[in-house]
Amino acid sequence: MKTTSNIAGKTKEIVKKHGKDKSSMIAVLQDIQEAFNYLPKQALKTAASAMNVPFSRVYEAATFYTAFSLKPRGENIVKICVGTACHVRGAATLQDKFERTLGIKPGETTKDKKFSLETVNCVGACALGPVVLINTEYHGQVTMKKVDKIIEKINNEGAQR
Ligand code: FES
Repeated sequence: MKTTSNIAGKTKEIVKKHGKDKSSMIAVLQDIQEAFNYLPKQALKTAASAMNVPFSRVYEAATFYTAFSLKPRGENIVKICVGTACHVRGAATLQDKFERTLGIKPGETTKDKKFSLETVNCVGACALGPVVLINTEYHGQVTMKKVDKIIEKINNEGAQR
């Protein structure tokens, strides 16, 4: 369980590492997300006071970039590419399969906090479509069978980082 003081302490460490300059803001937010898998409000508040900037400024940066999440996410982030090339190769069917298997819709997290489901627009690997990213790992030419295998592997081995 991440307590408020853990969050504040870790965030202060991150700010210390990158420095208080405003140009470090994105790097600080990236590290906070890396540490907690999302951007807890407490961390944003701590970062704002540690960097001596208004909270609204940090919040604005956190909401501007889609790579940042303000909601707690699962240990594994499943990103289904729904860009045009992947779409014509069956991304919608894959999305449906992930939704049914995990019991969640994009933007949601499973109750056991193991998976979060998201959709993205083109991850730059169109030739491999349909593409699914599990955290930072690319899976190309994903079939229904592969979906089962991916989920089974994570369930057996834990987080895929
Ligand atoms: S459309 Fe999916 S990788 Fe480009």
